[in-house]
Amino acid sequence: MNISPNTKLVGLIGHPVEHSLSPKLHNSLYKKYNLDYVYLAFDIAPDDVGKALEAFKVLGFKGFNVTIPHKERVMWFLDWLDTEAAIIGAVNTVKVENGKLIGYNTDGMGFVDSLKRRGIALKDTVALVLGAGGAARAICVYLLKEGVKELYIYNRTRERAIELIKHLERFFSGVCLNYLTKENIKEVQPDLVVNTTPVGMWPHTQLMPVEDYAFLPGMIVVDIIYNPIETAFLRKARQAGCMAINGLDMLVGQAIKAIEIWTSLKVDYDEAISILIEGDKFLL
Ligand code: ATR
Repeated sequence: MNISPNTKLVGLIGHPVEHSLSPKLHNSLYKKYNLDYVYLAFDIAPDDVGKALEAFKVLGFKGFNVTIPHKERVMWFLDWLDTEAAIIGAVNTVKVENGKLIGYNTDGMGFVDSLKRRGIALKDTVALVLGAGGAARAICVYLLKEGVKELYIYNRTRERAIELIKHLERFFSGVCLNYLTKENIKEVQPDLVVNTTPVGMWPHTQLMPVEDYAFLPGMIVVDIIYNPIETAFLRKARQAGCMAINGLDMLVGQAIKAIEIWTSLKVDYDEAISILIEGDKFLL
C-alpha cells in the first residue's frame, strides 16, 4: 500500500471491530483498482459516536461504514438520510460531502444487487423472509422497492413479525404483506426464501431456521450467514434443486455499494469474493 499525503481516508466504526473483514476487503479492492484510499477500523464506545463523527469531518474522511451497535444511534448525527435508510431505520454507510454527513443503508442495496447480477428479477415475485430483526428490515425494504408482489415474514417471536409488517405497510401499498407461523408456512410456495436469522451460524452449524422446510426445485434460497459458507439450511436447499446463495454475496454487496457511494467506482463481485476466499478456504 502506497500511502501519501493525498491518500483519502475511509473507515468503520463499531464496538467491537476487531473481527471485521471489511478492512481486508476494502483495502485489497483499493489496491486492485488503484484507488488511493485507505480503510481503517475504529472501536468506538456508544457515547463517543458523535465525537467520532466530528473527528471524521475535521480529518477529511470521505466516508465510513457503521456496524453493530451504532447503526441506529449514528442517525442522530447525520445531516441527510437516504429514503430507504430512513424507512429501514438504520445506517451502515455514511458519505462525507462538503462537511455534511449523508447516511445510507447498503445492506439491502447490496442484497438486491447481488441477486440482480445473477440475472434474478424480483418484480412480481413471492418472497419469504425468515427473521424480523435489523437485517430482515433492510432486506424487506429493498425487496419491496424492487416490486415483489407478496412478502411473507416468519419469525420466532410472532409479535416482531407483525410489527415489521405494520411498519412496511406504511411505506409500500398494493403488496400482499403477511406473517407466517410454523403451522401455515408450508401453505406458501415462494420464489425466494431468505434466512436473516443467525440460526445455523458457527458453532451451532446443525441448526436450521425452519426445520423440515419444504424446498421445491427452482426456488432461490439465500442465507445471509457466511460462517459456515454453506449452512445446513442452504445445503438442504441445494440438495432439493434450489439455487442456493450464501452470505458472501450480501457481505460483498454492501461493501461494493459503499465503495460506489464514496468513489463512484463499480467493483466486480467475483473479484471482491475472491479476496475473501483463498484457495477453497474462506478467510475469517
Ligand atoms: P440482525 O440485526 O442481525 O437482524 P437482530 O435484530 O437481533 O439481528 O435480529 C435477529 C433475528 O434472528 C430476529 O428475527 C430473531 O428472532 P426474535 O425476534 O424471535 O428474537 C432471530 N433469531 C435470533 N436467534 C434465533 C433463534 N435461536 N431461533 C430463531 N430465531 C432467532
